[in-house]
Amino acid sequence: MQALLDALAPDHPDLALAREIDPDRIPRHVAIIMDGNGRWAAQRNLPRVAGHKAGVPSVRTAVETCARLGVEALTLYAFSVENWKRPRPEVDMLWRLLRAYLRLEIGTLMRNNVQFGAIGRLDALPSAVQEALDSAIRRCAPNTGLKLNIAINYGGRAEIVDAVKAMVEKSCIAPLEITEETVSAHLYTAGQPDPDLLIRTSGEMRVSNFLLWQIAYAELYVTDTLWPDFSQRELLKAVLDYQKRDRRFGGLGSREAVNAAHS
Ligand code: IPE
Ligand code: IPE
Ligand code: MG
Repeated sequence: MQALLDALAPDHPDLALAREIDPDRIPRHVAIIMDGNGRWAAQRNLPRVAGHKAGVPSVRTAVETCARLGVEALTLYAFSVENWKRPRPEVDMLWRLLRAYLRLEIGTLMRNNVQFGAIGRLDALPSAVQEALDSAIRRCAPNTGLKLNIAINYGGRAEIVDAVKAMVEKSCIAPLEITEETVSAHLYTAGQPDPDLLIRTSGEMRVSNFLLWQIAYAELYVTDTLWPDFSQRELLKAVLDYQKRDRRFGGLGSREAVNAAHS
């Protein structure tokens, strides 16, 4: 959190907002459905791919801001298993953009001590994309800060199917040993906390097959802002909104819990 305050110049317009954030209640894991690139382009009479290009700086901002806030994990939904339904030239452009992102942003990832990873059915990706991912993962392996998961060819149901397969393959797992903990331990996000905050840009009120298991108790934040317009300020607003929520996990709210203790 201090890293964010230090990074903002005294006259930076986001400084006042950043100071409102409670450093003791930073979400441990933030997940983002980066949606609205096509609509951003359509509003400007540009091809959809121009919207995807315009979304890259928002990725950089989200990564740097989360790293400076002290968020432990950030998962960004970049391509779903359903996105193959899109026209071939759009899909090909997304792979080109991803490779360009990895080439250009490796410096940002290293400077911010980011541990880079990818989740999804990666073996179905073009080999050049797999190689670019592997090389970025290797370069970032010594880092110890923010865990960045890029979800590519990712589906929440596919992930659960893969977890079940992995458990069945280890025939040593007896039915009694199949618990919520062992399922979690076989997901792509094994070892990471579940998302506390799930952000979706561009106003759609759905989860589109993202992290279905892990978001059981995530706080949802949907903004009409389109992904290419999603700024540091927008992210800080989402975190502040999250900090106002009363998370109950099926129990009592914080006020009711205090009252119950006194009665
Ligand atoms: C999100 O933007 C990026 C990907 C799914 C790859 P969209 O391309 O879905 O943009 P809209 O929803 O059509 O505006
Ligand atoms: C979700 O967005 C997937 C990503 C952001 C990568 P979509 O644009 O694919 O979702 P739907 O089709 O509107 O549900
Ligand atoms: Mg969309």
